[in-house]
Amino acid sequence: MSRRSPYLLASAIALAVVAGAAAGEPPPARPWMDAALSPDARAALVVQAMTPDEKFQLITARYGSGSDGRPMPDGALGSAGFVPALARLGLPALQETDAGLGVARPLNAHSSDGATALPSGLATAASWDPAVAEAGGAMIGLEAHRKGFNVLLAGGVNLLRDPRNGRNFEYAGEDPLLAGIMAGHAVRGVQSQHVVSTLKHYAVNDLETGRNTMNAKLDPVAARESDLRAFEIALGIGEPGSVMCAYNRVNGTYACENEWLLDQVLKRDWGFKGFVMSDWGAVHSAAKSALAGLDQESAGETFDPQVYFDGPLREAVAAGEVPQARLDDMVQRILRSLFAVGAIDHPAGPAPIDYAADAKVAQDAAEAGAVLLRNEGGLLPLAGTLKSVAVIGAHADKGVLAGGGSSAVTAPGGNPVVGLAPTAWPGPVKYHPSAPLAAIARRVGGNARYASGADIAAAAELAASSEVAVVFVQQWAAESFDRPGMALDGNQDALVAAVAKANPRTVVVLENNGPVAMPWLAQTAAVLEAWYPGNAGGEAIARLLFGEVDPSGRLPLSWPRDESQLPRPAIAGAGLAEIGLPPQGKPADTVDYDIEGADVGYRWFQRRGEKPLFPFGYGLGYTTFGYGPLAVATDATGAVTASFTVTNTGRRAGADVPQLYARLPGEAASRLVGWQKVALQPGETKRIRLALPAVRFARYDERDHGWRVAAGACHLLLGHSSAQIEQQAKLRLPGVFPAGMQR
Ligand code: BGC
Repeated sequence: MSRRSPYLLASAIALAVVAGAAAGEPPPARPWMDAALSPDARAALVVQAMTPDEKFQLITARYGSGSDGRPMPDGALGSAGFVPALARLGLPALQETDAGLGVARPLNAHSSDGATALPSGLATAASWDPAVAEAGGAMIGLEAHRKGFNVLLAGGVNLLRDPRNGRNFEYAGEDPLLAGIMAGHAVRGVQSQHVVSTLKHYAVNDLETGRNTMNAKLDPVAARESDLRAFEIALGIGEPGSVMCAYNRVNGTYACENEWLLDQVLKRDWGFKGFVMSDWGAVHSAAKSALAGLDQESAGETFDPQVYFDGPLREAVAAGEVPQARLDDMVQRILRSLFAVGAIDHPAGPAPIDYAADAKVAQDAAEAGAVLLRNEGGLLPLAGTLKSVAVIGAHADKGVLAGGGSSAVTAPGGNPVVGLAPTAWPGPVKYHPSAPLAAIARRVGGNARYASGADIAAAAELAASSEVAVVFVQQWAAESFDRPGMALDGNQDALVAAVAKANPRTVVVLENNGPVAMPWLAQTAAVLEAWYPGNAGGEAIARLLFGEVDPSGRLPLSWPRDESQLPRPAIAGAGLAEIGLPPQGKPADTVDYDIEGADVGYRWFQRRGEKPLFPFGYGLGYTTFGYGPLAVATDATGAVTASFTVTNTGRRAGADVPQLYARLPGEAASRLVGWQKVALQPGETKRIRLALPAVRFARYDERDHGWRVAAGACHLLLGHSSAQIEQQAKLRLPGVFPAGMQR
């Protein structure tokens, strides 16, 4: 039988069902439960069987928790979003939960035991290993499913344009190719568990200050080549069921009613088949939003001035202002995504979770993504024979810091450091109960002692009387505010300086949102960037410090020396008074991203001829690597192959990330076009072949409305980072128009 006949038959049944429902007849057959049909066909069958009220119910998710005196909706799990089940049609409730680092607010009806916290998105990105991202996504997806959720609000891929953005830890860094590939694999991992993943926050939501009104000004072509490119790539790889439109305006129009962003770019140009959900409080209209491409309003009754997608949209549809077909399309898209990931065939529900196995996934990511920034005189790795180690600061006796806001996960075992400001939104400040002190002590026969760092003299004294000092410094950041500057809070700079002065064998471990100022850098022997290291962060840090695993993370960002090197040295209005960072003035109405345009991060530094403190792609290990000559070839389609050898030239096993950059004809800055993470034994050599699709060499051409590779000479650069190039080759690119979704 062809696909067409059951479809038509089903339509007839579905219509009969709607008529029958009113007459109180028995429930219909459910032809959409036939898993042999395509997700589109199944969704279409449901749409035909739905009443208008059912449609409006599906496009207006409610807040999934109680708030402001409102009770939690019946059937909700105490999370971010909820749509009641359509039992008549056999459709489960939509249970939506944050977010990309694990199931946030997991203490719901189905579980009281927390959830496994991945390290920062930046840590995962710093692994440069798509398999790490995918494993992390699959882990949190499975936990979500077993806690009863079928939509995870996971998939943050906003570009890091500013180290002070309070949500950098949720994202994947400054480069659209790296960020897009890593986020795409994370999404794929989540959806492999029958849970919809949500690419967000679309788009150009790159700062938190004034986030509900801020206008992000960015030339549309530059946007296509930077922020949008990250989304496009992630979308092509992960095929997320949903995309969340952001709070901010983009070139004057709110993202959730921005026809260019939603309808033109996302749905038409990229062929996105899933649904656009709003961020919580990001909707400002009914007809305008619906016509622009918004498919579902999130928690409007709690966060928007009114529920636009109920009364006002009903009126707009009745008046013909919004076509019925558009309403049906909204519903179709939501259902299609649920069918496509298997959320309906494999309903989420309570099931046991193997927290020990999941903690291992988080630990692997933390280990793969930590970046060794400095190691003078080979102080690291530490030896297990040390007789005395001073462990100082950042509550390292209790756990490791996490970022704040909607994505904050409470790990199994709870928060070991309670009561720190702010205790309310965007707090509470959370730590995960994986204490570095205990993990270090275990490795040196208990010879580790702790000083909190509150008393600098006491900490320096402990350091002076110890063979090695490990100082933990921390920077708490959270959704809803930006840090006004790169300086560490409180006495931490003075603490590190005093400890390093007392003992030159000082290692600094950073637990932070992103780049911080390090005025004491030259005084220290070693610095390990651990980001927010997640559930098993203490153990991961100790394994890295003691060389049980070789640091192999590489920076997914440029580390500025200070704010003066940034496109916007100050962010008006940044700060959060509760943590001693009083907002610096009034937020601006508009942020001008045209200053750097598509030249984000390392391209900005290259264009300006300036050197950051650490370049994009940088990271040390306990061994060294060398590259053989670079051979390149291209074919008529513009695809490029690059081949070279990597040799572990040191004495320890380790993993490297050889990176390939291209300098396109007529451009001053290079762009990342490929890389590979490769593990090598001492002395071992491997040949790497990178197949690079033509689109990686393309610029967006507005006249042709597509990607275009300009014919001409291109330089390929093979390096250890964006700034340390070892091999070069020249190539003649053919002029081509690569088609299809970015990869
Ligand atoms: C955040 C989103 C989040 C949503 C639901 C918003 O404030 O921007 O990332 O998914 O809340 O909690």
